[in-house]
Amino acid sequence: MNKRDFLRTAASASLGVLLGDRVWATYADLPVDRLAQEEDFWAAIRAKYRLKPDYINLESGYYSMQATPVLEAFIAKVREINYQASYYLRTTQVPDKAAVRDKLAAMAGCLPAELCITRNTTESIDTVVAGYDWKAGDEAVMAEQDYGHMLAQFRLMARRYGIVNKLVSVPIDPKSDDEIVKLYAGAITPRTRLMMVSHMVNITGQILPVRKIADMAHSRGVDVLVDGAHAFAHFEYSIPDLGCDYYGASLHKWLGCPLGTGILYVRRDKIPALWPVYGDHRMTDDADIMKLNHTGTHPVYTDLAIEDAIAFHNTLGTRRKEARLRYLQNYWTGKVRSLPNVIMNTPSDPKRACAIANVGIKGMKPADLAKTLLDKYRIWTNAIDSEPAGVYGVRVTPHVFILPKELDTLVKAIAEMARAA
Ligand SMILES: Cc1ncc(COP(=O)(O)O)c(C=O)c1O
Repeated sequence: MNKRDFLRTAASASLGVLLGDRVWATYADLPVDRLAQEEDFWAAIRAKYRLKPDYINLESGYYSMQATPVLEAFIAKVREINYQASYYLRTTQVPDKAAVRDKLAAMAGCLPAELCITRNTTESIDTVVAGYDWKAGDEAVMAEQDYGHMLAQFRLMARRYGIVNKLVSVPIDPKSDDEIVKLYAGAITPRTRLMMVSHMVNITGQILPVRKIADMAHSRGVDVLVDGAHAFAHFEYSIPDLGCDYYGASLHKWLGCPLGTGILYVRRDKIPALWPVYGDHRMTDDADIMKLNHTGTHPVYTDLAIEDAIAFHNTLGTRRKEARLRYLQNYWTGKVRSLPNVIMNTPSDPKRACAIANVGIKGMKPADLAKTLLDKYRIWTNAIDSEPAGVYGVRVTPHVFILPKELDTLVKAIAEMARAA
């Protein structure tokens, strides 16, 4: 393999190659829900990650580490690009990045011309919100449960252009999708132009019925921006099937890419009206999404390693991953949900959540809960203390390398703390 090919395809493999043909043959025909419970299979997947023995990492919602084959491929790219230096940047950088974008677009189910690589969801969402042609008095709709910094970007627009932001509050256990759709519909007025919807609420793990919300919003002439930070490569969907106009996601969360990778999707007909945040002297065609993606000189090896993460992800496959993640979440939440003094901040309907769940203990501050979990039980989680959303607890996010016996430690810890509460 020459250097160029190495830069492009270091980690492509099948599960047979990854696990050994004999091991994989045992599992190849199992339905995903059965495979989700085959611990020997998942132990083999776990072996592809380097895990710190000091704690059980239940905080993959922030950043999910690269699997070892991806990390090694990434490091090789860092070395190679450092070696080739500006020669690489001036020769094959652009086509190499375009090839990565093609693979991401295939994964997202959209046209390559509708997608660009960003640093993260923050950049993707902010590019849309700041690129909108706002007029004073325009309205935008969003939820108390959306990510704080994304809400802050709308507040900036309110200060700068005089837009008005309307916030809804999404119930954790709705009776139906309709209840949520009506909530968003109720915030629309004739001045509403844009609605932001979280695909998965970051503090609770709740999956929102994005397609139904988008259809309703479009029927009222409102554009839909989806914050998919936690959704991409977590569970199966295609972006166009969601029916939204704009979509942003981070790839260092569930795709297991190096830090600083994300995507921005803009439906083709929506590209011309968006203003770029960064100027590009070529003044790229109005209908070209790359006009929104002038990055300047940047760590391109990070973007190139997305290809390795996709290859690793595809060996496992989204459906197998989703089934395992949902299994792990239900495994522990099912054991604590009905305990006295336990507050579950995550939908009980399995379809409305996947890996992420949030649990609180009556009378215990989230920070104390997270600290006790770490100090006494060696479990790493994230304290969520959100007054606007009314969510108090710790966010627990197992990745595919987590084992049920580690979740047993969490269950024991919660049961003991709840008894003492
Ligand atoms: C819902 C949501 N949106 C946006 C972000 C920002 O993601 P990033 O820091 O990768 O830009 C996060 C981060 O956790 C998030 O949970």
